[in-house]
Amino acid sequence: MADKVEITWHGHACFTLDFGKKVVIDPFIDGNPKAKIKKGDVKADLVVVTHGHSDHLGDAVEIARNNKAPIVTFVELGWMIGAENGDLDIRAINYSGSTEVNGITVTAVPALHSSSVDGKYAGNPAGMVISDGITVYHAGDTGVFGDMSIISDLYHPDISLLPIGGFYTMSTYEATYAAGLLKSPYIIPMHYNTFDLIKADAQKFKKETEEKHQVNVIVPEVEEVVKIDRQELGKR
Ligand code: NI
Ligand code: MN
Repeated sequence: MADKVEITWHGHACFTLDFGKKVVIDPFIDGNPKAKIKKGDVKADLVVVTHGHSDHLGDAVEIARNNKAPIVTFVELGWMIGAENGDLDIRAINYSGSTEVNGITVTAVPALHSSSVDGKYAGNPAGMVISDGITVYHAGDTGVFGDMSIISDLYHPDISLLPIGGFYTMSTYEATYAAGLLKSPYIIPMHYNTFDLIKADAQKFKKETEEKHQVNVIVPEVEEVVKIDRQELGKR
């Protein structure tokens, strides 16, 4: 069980969660105008992909192969990736399904969105709950939905990573409401300001969400490391 997690935002929806073992989620590095790292430099013990859109699947295959890391993703997308990459270890889970890698549990939860690869249907989109004593909910791309309260009840995410950019996902208005459903003590916004279509004011989101709910909204810079330890969360 990890004593702390170090969270690094690589821009857009891509994060590294370092529990001691590194989980890389939605590694859209190549072609991401805000990325400051190179895909060849990304270290991962596990790669998680929420859905097939190119700004999430991104460089997942290459990073998994470079690091000999498994990929955890939703079932049909996992099959698609596996059909072309027989060398990779792919854990293709469905909603409420979990898999464990290096003591880290990943559970697929709903996301209100769509999923395709190069225009081809790629199954359903997911959010992912990732836990090693400290629990992080990566919402993927999603609109707001009431069953976020079930995610709260079942998994008690300590940290929720929520899209705020609008157009393809929740904007700050819906994400503030979502924070109330999720009841995570920490919220980190994502999926904004990468492109003109998804402009958002993260500081305004922080102010409004903290005023409305008992949460801390952390707005990291790209490549800034946010450290959260178990003691801060009141966990023993
Ligand atoms: Ni998407
Ligand atoms: Mn997206």
